[in-house]
Amino acid sequence: MKFQTRWMTAMAIGAGFVMISACGQDDGASPDKNAAADAMEVNGLMKPAAFASIENEEERAGALFNEMAKVMLHPRCANCHPKSGGPTQGDAMVPHEPPVVRGAGGIGATGMECFTCHGSENVEFATMEGSIPGAEPWFLPPVAMGWAGSSPAELCAQLNDPSKTGGRSLEDLIEHNGGDHLVNWAWNPGEGRTPAPGDQETLGALTAAWVEAGGHCPA
Ligand code: HEC
Ligand code: HEC
Repeated sequence: MKFQTRWMTAMAIGAGFVMISACGQDDGASPDKNAAADAMEVNGLMKPAAFASIENEEERAGALFNEMAKVMLHPRCANCHPKSGGPTQGDAMVPHEPPVVRGAGGIGATGMECFTCHGSENVEFATMEGSIPGAEPWFLPPVAMGWAGSSPAELCAQLNDPSKTGGRSLEDLIEHNGGDHLVNWAWNPGEGRTPAPGDQETLGALTAAWVEAGGHCPA
């Protein structure tokens, strides 16, 4: 009886949610207006076109970079881009469990390399919810390429400094953000993880538009 009452309460709450979300969608906007908004964004990330009306090049570049930073500073990217120590995990970016060290070349300690546990694909846990993330080759970038906890302006300055990017130019970043396999994992992060906003194509397009606008940084 108690079980049934709880179940009915859950149903009532569930129905409430349905009604609230239905109301939320019916915001009175015309279909055209919704279509225009759709054309400007993908899964919470604005497309470059949304910034085209900013005439001042420095301002446009800054705004484009702030949008890119929504992805680059997202936990799916930042967990692998720590400024010190080992990787972090989850949306709260807590230290990796079990504790692992960066090791030489970012691949972990001898006998406890990242590849010991991380394969080429996400693997669901057998006995509980969640998964071991995977993509080939799974390891940490050099410390100089760490940016977890940075502001967008700090990240932007770092990417503009060839001594920190391993010689990668701004043009090279377009290809990396738009095409790299590890970067792509952030939108396919496996059971139990929130994907990064947008998609890789949009991140690549934003990066290209930012570089074209001079690669300037947000204030
Ligand atoms: C002993 C096995 C093991 C080793 C070794 C290991 N990992 Fe993990 N790693 C895991 C497991 C399991 C998870 C998933 C934890 C969870 O979601 O509950 C994980 C999660 C992560 C995440 C979190 C992804 C996210 O966004 O939440 C990152 C990043 C990561 N590992 C990087 C590394 C790196 C880099 C190395 C090598 C330096 C490494 N791991 C070594 C088992 C391991
Ligand atoms: C599994 C760990 C991992 C994840 C997840 C990851 N990266 Fe990386 N990233 C690396 C490694 C390793 C390198 C260094 C490889 C190299 O230099 O070619 C790197 C390098 C980079 C670089 C080059 C930086 C520079 O200064 O040259 C960029 C840009 C980058 N990653 C963007 C991203 C973005 C954006 C995401 C999320 C959408 C992401 N990464 C997720 C491991 C990761």
